[in-house]
Amino acid sequence: MESKVTEIAPDVFRISTFHPDYGIQFNQFLVRDDEPFIMHTGFKKMFPITLEAVTSVIKPEKLRWIGFSHFESDECGALNEWFKVAPHAEAACSVVGAMVMVNDFADKPPRALSDGEVLEIGRHRLRFLATPHVPHCWDAGLFFDETDRTLLCSDLFFHPGDPEPLTESEIVGRARAAIVEGLSSPLAKDMPYTPYTDSTMHRVAALEPKTLALMHGSSFRGDGRAAILDLASVIKETLGKPAENL
Ligand SMILES: [Fe+2]
Ligand SMILES: [Fe+2]
Repeated sequence: MESKVTEIAPDVFRISTFHPDYGIQFNQFLVRDDEPFIMHTGFKKMFPITLEAVTSVIKPEKLRWIGFSHFESDECGALNEWFKVAPHAEAACSVVGAMVMVNDFADKPPRALSDGEVLEIGRHRLRFLATPHVPHCWDAGLFFDETDRTLLCSDLFFHPGDPEPLTESEIVGRARAAIVEGLSSPLAKDMPYTPYTDSTMHRVAALEPKTLALMHGSSFRGDGRAAILDLASVIKETLGKPAENL
């Protein structure tokens, strides 16, 4: 495996590793600034590949912030590996994530972010949004780079394969196909439809992102608001109905 590095927005570098066993990409996003920030660590077992890619953009020991949406191995499994090479790095996650998991799992305490809190890392302002159960998990959150209107959207818009780094074509169709296909896979029921889903998606859409930075699949540049509202409709249509057979 190897990582491909693409600048998808000013000083936002997409580090993409296609994992053939899963048939999907695992994408990290490195924001180069006074206090460099990375969104997702990738798997612990992929750490050497991720580190090599980060090293092509910044000195890895300068990494200051490690953000992620929710506690899963692709989101934060390499957290403690990062602490070994970047002594000033801190995890940045939701209050729930810190209390329930990261305080115990991580080798140093995380920065627990409340809903709406901003990380100022230099030119970029990263606003944290607590989004419980969107895309999934109680502790979920998203980061929004207010400076260039880039939404670091974790598993939202998931689509498989090894597609292009950045597209201006629509991506909701790809995400819909993946949701429908996922309904009959062993990983079904990954995304719950809850009383909060619609309002959370509308709240995120109102940010009007220009770039959507997807953890799995191509990043998107265009009308982020419309894409998120379309995805909200797809989620409601496909997942928002009572299960018939469990
Ligand atoms: Fe996830
Ligand atoms: Fe993921």
